[in-house]
Amino acid sequence: MKARKIKDGIYWVGAVDWDRRLFDDLVPLPDGTSYNAYLIQGSEKTTLIDTVDPDMAYILLSRLKELGVESIDYVIANHAEQDHSGTIPQVLEQHPQAQVVCTPKCKKMLLDLELAPEDSFLTVDDGETLSLGDRTLEFIHAPWVHWPETMLTYLQEDKILFSCDFLGSHLATTDLYVTDEGQVYEAAKRYYAEIMMPFRKIIQKNLKKVQEYEFSLIAPSHGPIYDRPEFILDAYQDWVHSEPKNIVVLPYISMHGSTREMVEHLVDALIENGVTVKLFNLAVTDIGKLAISLVDAATIVIGSPTVLAGAHPNVVYAAYLANALRPKTKFVSIVGSYGWGGKMVQQLADLISNLKVEIIDPVVIKGSPKGEDFESLDKLAAAIAEKHKGLKK
Ligand code: FEO
Repeated sequence: MKARKIKDGIYWVGAVDWDRRLFDDLVPLPDGTSYNAYLIQGSEKTTLIDTVDPDMAYILLSRLKELGVESIDYVIANHAEQDHSGTIPQVLEQHPQAQVVCTPKCKKMLLDLELAPEDSFLTVDDGETLSLGDRTLEFIHAPWVHWPETMLTYLQEDKILFSCDFLGSHLATTDLYVTDEGQVYEAAKRYYAEIMMPFRKIIQKNLKKVQEYEFSLIAPSHGPIYDRPEFILDAYQDWVHSEPKNIVVLPYISMHGSTREMVEHLVDALIENGVTVKLFNLAVTDIGKLAISLVDAATIVIGSPTVLAGAHPNVVYAAYLANALRPKTKFVSIVGSYGWGGKMVQQLADLISNLKVEIIDPVVIKGSPKGEDFESLDKLAAAIAEKHKGLKK
């Protein structure tokens, strides 16, 4: 398989995983993904930036072979997760002299994962440089994008940032560079929501750090390369810094129609109050779409019937997920019904304890919604709209 030339001495040697539909057996990948690895030839040293998922090791090795790479001096491990580090053993088998370059924390993790022997490591500090002869690598420690050991690698002369997971997108494509910004925006936002959003505060700092550099390209380890770097930097700036928007995300389940009737009424009432609603029936929704919508929403309203004294299990999962993803949401409410009793509201409130939100009075009713219940939903919509008026533009 052929490597793809970025410029003289710099090649993409990764693998496109068209068929993968789930990452970590958790994250949906509707558009597949790629594991990008890059080869950089300096006048004196040759380096590989990250490797690929071990299932696709043969692709990376075949691209290196096709390029005629005889010797690799350094393997940069920006991140220890196996979709980037998992082929280090095969690379070291062919190039036993290569040093694995990474942060001290990454070294410990790679040793734990038994991906490289102790004597192969060269650990680097934040800001440290490594000469390849006529080219220089600079290492930027960027913890928690999205593991504690992560770093980025900046190729100084060519102004290329190899950002690994940071700024990436799960997207299988033959495009080496972004050609359809709308498509990549959606994939990158999904990636941010599912992988990066829990670390938003730290990402704010890392984003500030990288914005001090000048870039010709940003080359992540998932998805196409950004030849217009401001596209993804501006998107991240919005996602991590902007105030939440006038949006309600409404994930719900209805077993016999009562909760659905309430939800439909609430949606209409919110629309009348000028609020945008993103509705997700959790029986059928792509949980990644729900995650994307959480990036911007000022309010989450959870809709659930009562099952065995608590919320429906799909709703419990969605609440747990929202709590783990830590969006910048400011308000939460709950709507739903019960047959004879239960503790659904308390259970859901306990599940979202990470979210720094104000709870707006829930509307939880007995049986099917009636006249006064619809009035309560109207009041809830009005209360949400009023809260949203206080959002900064
Ligand atoms: Fe793409 Fe955190 O691995």
